[in-house]
Parts: sequence; structure tokens; C-alpha cells
Amino acid sequence: MPGDGGLRLDALRWRQQVVGVEHEVRLLDGGRTTYVNLDNAATTPVLRHVQHMLREAEEIYSSVHRGAGYKSRRTSDLYEEARAEVLRFLGAQDGKRVAIFTKHTTEAVNKLAAEFPLERGDVVILSEMEHHANLLPWRGRAEIAYLPVDAQGRLDLGALPDLLERHSGRVKLVAISGASNVTGYVNDIHFAAEMAHRHGAMIFVDAAQLAPHRRIRMLDADDPGAIDFLAFSAHKLYAPYGAGALVGPREFFRLGAPQLRGGGAIKFVSLDDVIWDEPPAREEAGSPNVLGAIALGAALRSLEAMGVERLEAREHELLLYLLGRLGEVPGVEVLGGMASDERIGAVSFVLDGVPPMLVAAALGWEWGIGVRAGCFCANPYVMRLLHLSSPQVAGLRDEIARGERSHLPGAVRASLGLYNLEAEIDRLHAALMAVSLGEFKGRYAIETETGEYWPEGAQEAWSTL
Ligand code: ALA
Repeated sequence: MPGDGGLRLDALRWRQQVVGVEHEVRLLDGGRTTYVNLDNAATTPVLRHVQHMLREAEEIYSSVHRGAGYKSRRTSDLYEEARAEVLRFLGAQDGKRVAIFTKHTTEAVNKLAAEFPLERGDVVILSEMEHHANLLPWRGRAEIAYLPVDAQGRLDLGALPDLLERHSGRVKLVAISGASNVTGYVNDIHFAAEMAHRHGAMIFVDAAQLAPHRRIRMLDADDPGAIDFLAFSAHKLYAPYGAGALVGPREFFRLGAPQLRGGGAIKFVSLDDVIWDEPPAREEAGSPNVLGAIALGAALRSLEAMGVERLEAREHELLLYLLGRLGEVPGVEVLGGMASDERIGAVSFVLDGVPPMLVAAALGWEWGIGVRAGCFCANPYVMRLLHLSSPQVAGLRDEIARGERSHLPGAVRASLGLYNLEAEIDRLHAALMAVSLGEFKGRYAIETETGEYWPEGAQEAWSTL
């Protein structure tokens, strides 16, 4: 489908379905412009359909699975429809999987790490590419083995069989991201699943970045390449109302005790006894984020209606355009290289001689372009991509521990959403050309505690935005 002119027309239509894309912002020099959001890997704007659905759901909003009244029953129906939508979106409606609503991917990984049965000597395989959300919850829970990345920053899945062999019989779980939030590289999760299963381990996929960009199929639970556990967040899927989902085997969540305990999770409680309810109820103690879940279900329905494969094709077209335009800017180096295969629309780069935080500040204040700069909650991966030596990393650690963040390493990330257009990338290109020539409209100073750059007069400009 690449090169299909219809894709651009689709993008224009999709753009009309997104809230806030024509928002005007004030610039440092007093001018005004339409905001360009290239920070979709952090969070996406809202789809109109989601907004509409929420307004309707608010009218009948009430408690779920707790009330006998009409509104409670109707709200419970909508909540369960959203759950079914999550399973449909992942091709996981085999009846053996359950979707549990969480706050976000981070909470989902923490829940899984807390409940996954691990004993002394057990090994969990993670990768050097992971977001902190899929690193920190596992530490201290098991012995960790890391799957390396290659010189381009691609996950070296070829090393997985050896790693599994080396820890033969002890690896209980392989937990990897579906796509990197830094380089956008997509991992072959089904190959990893097959390898893990062959060695008696299970697999978890952090799909926070994959789900908004690729068709995911968890596959039938008895398929060797099936994904056992998967998590993603609604705020990267055009429904930013604080919901996420953890999907896994129903039987798994029937074992042991849930991490979160309280009302709604039980069948019976006495002063010295409890009978936990069946999943998902037993995993969702307390009143859940009903509207967030309904919004997520609505967003997934919208993405299906747009056509997930068509969204993928359009994004690839735009990714090629973005890489091409970045390649034209003197001094730009894209982390992980310029390859576009197996890559979602998240591209991080450095600009020779200009600190990434300064680039991001100038893009925001002078050009009305929103990007993220820094290490993107993936410190080990970014430091590797930047080729920092161990002594350099140790030096940085000491500086940061002292509260000095002026030398933070990092990159600038431009990440695409389904509504972005070539003209917006042209704006990024023009801005980077100016910055690469040292053409700033403001004078910037660094805030040492945060490592962020602020232009002189920012306060006054901010108050009139
Ligand atoms: N994990 C999100 C990002 O990469 C917040 O920006």
C-alpha cells in the first residue's frame, strides 16, 4: 500500500476525528501558530468518537457490579463491553484469556510482577531495550538476565535461545517490549514466544508502544507463538482517561491471592476467611476507572473502523518522510540509524553541538512543535545508543545523585500519530535547520535541577499563552 495516494486522504479524514489538532498557541516572539504535536509516543490526543461516547456514558454513569438500579446495570454493561473490545482488538477472545483493567501499562507490569510465582533461583529474561516500567518491577523478584541489543539498537533475539539454554530450567518468564519507545524498533514477539515456550517459560509483552501502531494477535493459547501476557495503555491509544489493560490466561489469575485486595474482589469474607472471586473481578478490587475503560473500548472500536492495517501503511509512509527530512538536516544523527523496516513512527535523534533539551525547548517555544527530549524512561537503552562508556555513566550517576542535572544525556524524539501530516514534518524540518545554524529567537538558560532549558522572559510569555 505504500505510495497509495489514498492514504494521505485517509489521514486528512482521520485528522478530523481527533480533538485539538488545530489548536493555536502563542510563540516566544508573540506570534501565533497551529500547534504541531509530535509527542504521540508519550500520549495521544482524544478521538472525537471517544469524547462523544464519554458524554453519553456520563449520563448513565453509576457503580459497576454493585448496584441494582438501571444506571448501574447499564454502566456495568458498557464496562464489560469495553473489556470484550480489548480482547477482540488483540484477537484474544478464545475464552481462555481475561482482560484486567489497570491504570496504565506500568501498573499492569507491577501487578504481573507481584503476582507471578517466582522462587529463589528463578530467572526472568528482560532486554536492554526496555522502558523502566518493564525493568524495575522485576528487579528483586528474580534473577534477571538481559537480552542484548545490537549495534543499531535492535533487539538481538538470536541470542535468546542461548540465554534460555544457559539458564535452562530456571527461566520462568521472558518479558520484552513489542516496540521501543526510543527507536521505534519492533520486536518479533512470536519468535520470542516460541523460544520461551520451548524452554518452559512464559512470555509477557509490553505493548504500550506496539498497540497504537500495529495489528496485534495474541494467537490461540495453545499456539507455540502465542503471547501469554500483554499490557498497554489507553493514553497512547487516543483515550487518555487513566486506563490500561493487562491480558493473560484466566487460569493464571485464578491462582494465589490478588495483589490489590478489597471490595468487589471476593465471593465471601468472614473475620478469618476469604473466598476470592473469579477473574477479572478478583483483580479489580475497589471501584474501577469505569469511564476510562469505556473510553478505551470506544477508541479501540474507532481504530478498527479506520482500519488498523491502513493506519499502519499510512504511518509507514509518514515515517519514511520523517526519516528523509531528518536526513537533510546537517548534524542530525538518528539513534539506531535510518532503517525504516520493522519500525513504528517513533524516531529519536541528536543534533550535533546542541543539547537535546535545548532543541526541544526551541521547538516548543519558537516553533509551536511538541516533542520529548531526554532518555524517555529508558536510561540504559539510550545510554547505550549514545555509546556512553561505563566511567561516563558512573560520572553521570554521581552528578545526578548530587542534584546536578545539567549534563543529562539524551536525544530528541519525534513520534507520530494517525493524524500527523507531511506539512507538520516540514515545520519540524524548518525548525531543525534553523536550530542547526544556531538561529534562536530567544536566549535560553538551563535549570540545573531539571536539566530543562527556559527562555528569558518565559514567565511573561507563558502567562499570555
Ligand atoms: N513512556 C512514554 C514515553 O515514552 C511516557 O514518552
